[in-house]
Amino acid sequence: ATLTACGSGGTSAKDGDSGELTMGFAQVGAESGWRTANTKSIQQSAKTAGIELKFSDAQQKQENQIKAIRSYIQQKVDVIAFSPVVETGWDAVLLEAKRARIPVILTDRAVDSDDDTLYETFLGSDFVEEGEKAGEWLVQNTEGPVNVVELQGTTGAAPAIDRKKGFEEKIAARPDIKIKASQSGDFTRSGGKQVMEAFLRSHPDVDVVYAHNDDMGLGAIEAIKAAGKKPGEDIKIITVDAVKDGMQALADGEINYIVECNPLLGDQLMELAKKVVDGEKVPKRVVTEETTFTPEQAKKALPDRQY
Ligand code: AHR
Repeated sequence: ATLTACGSGGTSAKDGDSGELTMGFAQVGAESGWRTANTKSIQQSAKTAGIELKFSDAQQKQENQIKAIRSYIQQKVDVIAFSPVVETGWDAVLLEAKRARIPVILTDRAVDSDDDTLYETFLGSDFVEEGEKAGEWLVQNTEGPVNVVELQGTTGAAPAIDRKKGFEEKIAARPDIKIKASQSGDFTRSGGKQVMEAFLRSHPDVDVVYAHNDDMGLGAIEAIKAAGKKPGEDIKIITVDAVKDGMQALADGEINYIVECNPLLGDQLMELAKKVVDGEKVPKRVVTEETTFTPEQAKKALPDRQY
């Protein structure tokens, strides 16, 4: 396979090899329903595309992802794809991949680097826009004053940073909407529950929960119920993802609004990987298409929801 990876020119480490293409994929972890669906999509699509997949789960730790990427470089895979757990701290390992002439594709989450020649393309959602959609719903569907608590995703992760940013930008139009507390629940159900329990003690006057994903929102629902309040009524809940469990809670009236984040990136990723390895030009950014859901829309969508 000949490639002009990362502007490096020349040929890949596998030049002269024949047979199927090998991809090393360094996954974030298994923190949420979204992630499980994303992993499944990547594994299935690799199979369908005839790509040999080497897969690793970093358990939400950057050092594990770096180790996995280094091992893929050593194994001389044809292409490396990964979803960076946090935004910063990738330049060194990406430079190693570039020097080994192995192209890198970012999926789902971006890196924060001044050098965009360290990767070929970034396939994934516009997280700022997701945050904006959540903020817009709140602006349109509440009357002030509104006390919000925010369950942030993993500290330093692109979706946590961007979903916060987009949300804050939209609610700035309504000074009577106030974020009273904001803390990371690490994108997990247990994290969301724990942080919400603490929020309910420190801010008993909370009106709205903005959770950066469904799992944390579902954890918050448990905490709200345990505190004797009704989720969706006493405390409104906005989340991001639209996985089945979240959609069910939305249909049941326990969540009020969900901004979709699409985890089914596998087919597009495999297509991009083949092109990149063949030296074809690919767009530097591929944005995933997404929608939003009200309870009524969730009821309609649920029977066909794949994940
Ligand atoms: O990067 C995407 C985010 O990561 C999803 O919204 C969240 O559920 C996952 O853990």
